[in-house]
Amino acid sequence: MTDLPPVPFRNPRARHGFKSRTCSVTGVGSYVPSRILTNDELSRMVDTNDEWITTRTGIRERRIAAADEATSDLAAKAAVRALEFANVTADQVDLIIVATITPDMLFPSVACLVQERIGARKAAAFDLEAACSGFIYALEVGQQFIMSHTYDTVLVIGAEKLSSIIDWTDRNTCVLFGDGAGAVVLQSRPRSHGLLTACMGADGSKAGILCMPGGGSRIPASSDSVASRLHFLRMDGRETFKNAVLAMCTAANEALQRCDLSIDQIQCIIPHQANRRIIEAVAERLQAPPDRVFVNLDRYGNTSAASVAIALDEVVRSGRVKTGDLLLLLVFGAGLTWGAAVIQW
Ligand code: ACO
Repeated sequence: MTDLPPVPFRNPRARHGFKSRTCSVTGVGSYVPSRILTNDELSRMVDTNDEWITTRTGIRERRIAAADEATSDLAAKAAVRALEFANVTADQVDLIIVATITPDMLFPSVACLVQERIGARKAAAFDLEAACSGFIYALEVGQQFIMSHTYDTVLVIGAEKLSSIIDWTDRNTCVLFGDGAGAVVLQSRPRSHGLLTACMGADGSKAGILCMPGGGSRIPASSDSVASRLHFLRMDGRETFKNAVLAMCTAANEALQRCDLSIDQIQCIIPHQANRRIIEAVAERLQAPPDRVFVNLDRYGNTSAASVAIALDEVVRSGRVKTGDLLLLLVFGAGLTWGAAVIQW
């Protein structure tokens, strides 16, 4: 591959002496379970209806994993597809990072289970938890290993079986989420483009607005914790909404500024798929043309750490981006956490 023509932006990595190595996304893949749960089906489970869900969220249906399908199963399938795309064999993988809030079990990590499943014998493996922001956090961590010459091939996966922590009697939350996984392969390529920057942020003072209180060291599982429904996701929707818009706009502006880019130079914006109204508010504040904003939440709902990874796979495989195009990824989630990444495809 020959070098691309010069582009009118600055690679912020160069400032830190990393100019000699870049980090490219060489493979993308995703997997969603086959079972579709529609809004009409949900309206037979809780007091809701298709009209409310569609107008308030934009979600029409979501995928639900089978009872015997865990997060590592979804993750492994997405990983295999990303490796095939990149033309990389599993035994070439040096490191696997899985972003998830729904691991198969507290330990060992999903990443270790995926390592065994796909046969990535030499790979180191660990999970990373930053809720819905996990994929960009994991991208940034993965690229650091590439840039530092520690590893040549890193598999980054966002995977969730959120249906396992949803309270199916709570209409405020159960309509919003779905299951799925997305993966990318990170490698160094001798050309100027790739992952140009990623910024991350967090505000632990707002941890309470979106959390799962039970099952950790604070409230270990007991018959009381189960009876009190503490092992389900809890969310203050309005607070989450407000913070999501603010945080994603801040992260987007920081990432663009680092690269000396303006929003109109971005060909495709891939925001976290939580709520269509959040996405529209972010696009409006950033003055981004709506036709450049990718949305697939109508089909999958909010898949947390998998959301942007699945969307990236769909954007690339649909032919919507071409070599040299600039992509802006935006995330927001529990923690609170948020982030943005700029990728030149
Ligand atoms: N069906 C029908 N009515 C409902 C439903 C439902 N599924 N859910 C809530 N309502 C009702 C409420 O009870 C309330 O009724 P009331 O006025 O009688 O009290 C009314 O609808 C309005 O409720 P609001 O909370 O004000 O509705 P809002 O327009 O804010 O939409 C929503 C709620 C969709 C949750 C929105 O606030 C949202 O999307 N928040 C952000 C969620 C998010 O981004 N999460 C991302 C992070 S997830 C992670 O990190 C794991």
